Amino acid sequence: MKKIVVLSGAGMSAESGIGTFRDAGGLWEKYIIDDVATPDGFRRNPALVLDFYNQRRKQLVESKPNEGHLILAELENKYDIHIITQNVDNLHEQAGSTKVLHLHGELMKVRSTSASADVFELSNNNYEINLGDKCPKGYQLRPHIVWFGEEVPEIENAVDIVKTADILVVIGTSMQVYPAASLINYVKTTSTVYLIDPLDIEHLPTHVHVIKNIASKGLKEFVKMID
Ligand code: APR
Repeated sequence: MKKIVVLSGAGMSAESGIGTFRDAGGLWEKYIIDDVATPDGFRRNPALVLDFYNQRRKQLVESKPNEGHLILAELENKYDIHIITQNVDNLHEQAGSTKVLHLHGELMKVRSTSASADVFELSNNNYEINLGDKCPKGYQLRPHIVWFGEEVPEIENAVDIVKTADILVVIGTSMQVYPAASLINYVKTTSTVYLIDPLDIEHLPTHVHVIKNIASKGLKEFVKMID
């Protein structure tokens, strides 16, 4: 079975109504990264950060997987599909994909701010975390998100997966955030690389086949190309 590795970014979930970060009108035009997505921001104003992620979760529980997510889940019938996602939503899993690695954490999980960093699962009916919400050991809970300036614990696992790909398909990421964007450099020389995005992505390696389209339509083109 051919191994297809997917590297997905915010554009993958755009058709589900979840806004991207760096497009016009994206999240980082409305919020200051340093305030809501860094350890320092959380120290300065934890309530603001918790509220930001409560809003992200509210949007997620009101969303559902789009056609692109469903196409990827269905491809598991024919290929060994591994998804490495920068997205913190769980729409790949909701669509039915079984091998999903979250590089930047998961919205529907929280963890303790103590050294043990115990992780807890939230539910669709109970997804808010506020100041004063503590783990059983008495420590404040924080989002299970990799903030800017924090280690990316899954990066080594992601590199190992990319190294064994027959096909790598990059979907809906501006490739501006590292180390995620560097993963494309770990493919075997014999593997084929596709990139699906409606906009031009800068500084791509020359061997990339660009499919200039949104995720769902681009994935349909991709499936025809590899069939
Ligand atoms: N289908 C496919 N791609 C799309 C679509 C769509 N419908 N709509 C927009 N895009 C593309 C944009 O053209 C852009 O290239 O998705 C990309 C989104 O880029 P970013 O907003 O920068 O998102 P991403 O690359 O995932 O960001 C990386 O940055 O802020 C952090 O931690 C956050 O994981 C995130 C990381």
